Amino acid sequence: MAQRPKITIVGAGNVGATTAHWVASKELGDIVLVDVLDGIPQGKSLDLMETGPVEDLDVTITGSTSYEATANSDLVIITAGLARKPGMSRDDLLAKNSQIIKEVTQQVAKFSPKTIIIMVSNPLDVMTYEAMKVSGFPKQRVVGMAGILDTARFSTFVAMELNVSVEDIQALVLGGHGDSMVPLPRYTTVGGVPITELMSEDRVAALIERTRKGGIEIVNFLKTGSAYYAPAAAATQMAEAILKDKKRFLPCAAYLEGEYGLRDVFVGVPVILGAKGVEKILEVRLTKEEQAALAKSAESVKANIAKLKL
Ligand code: 2OP
Repeated sequence: MAQRPKITIVGAGNVGATTAHWVASKELGDIVLVDVLDGIPQGKSLDLMETGPVEDLDVTITGSTSYEATANSDLVIITAGLARKPGMSRDDLLAKNSQIIKEVTQQVAKFSPKTIIIMVSNPLDVMTYEAMKVSGFPKQRVVGMAGILDTARFSTFVAMELNVSVEDIQALVLGGHGDSMVPLPRYTTVGGVPITELMSEDRVAALIERTRKGGIEIVNFLKTGSAYYAPAAAATQMAEAILKDKKRFLPCAAYLEGEYGLRDVFVGVPVILGAKGVEKILEVRLTKEEQAALAKSAESVKANIAKLKL
């Protein structure tokens, strides 16, 4: 009989713990929660596991400060690192988080050489690049979570604007997870009808602007950290696509080697996500303006990649 998948979540802060919660609630597999702060991963894991009898969840959740407990994971979700505070851009996290992600990735690759990595830490596209380089994993097995979050925010704002169910909205946001991300209204529909047919240009532009600033909107409310419910839900959707080999069409940070005219960079594009990780990168047709916006976004990711000390 097949065993349950083993899922490691690195970082037991708000994003990591909430991801563990979603992953457990969907019974995607047994979870190992790792953090450097002794007691936190153990306490949160035990607490979460004790929800099992109430929620009928047959999964084990183990907390540890050691990567030995993560050995032979099928999937590793990395959420470790610092989050933003008001006044900070995601790029301001680069120096501190790149050191953390380097150490984490080395341990992950050592104990789970065949795993797939979902990166969640910021600056997202740059940290995903670092994880691929440090792990030495093939590009299919390293993928970043941002497009689903940015798309979910765009969909939320469209639903609020038009007073329609989120279920009927399909949205697409490409590019880096930063201020230069590229929401695509032409490919954002309500029941198949592009939003450009359903609201004025001004309103479309306003929703795009709010989506671009969606992360900082939450940071400014929370003051002590950044969003975690929606980021964790997005990471869980990716985990489910991989563990159940669903072949979902999702916007994720993927390594480009010529697609969209971009090279040696991670940036958000539509991919097919399945058991092998990023099984395919889909090149949707873009207008000149959209292509230029994507290239500009990739340039800003590249500028930060150049600052990495790998
Ligand atoms: C966000 O957009 C934290 O980058 C994350 O909320």
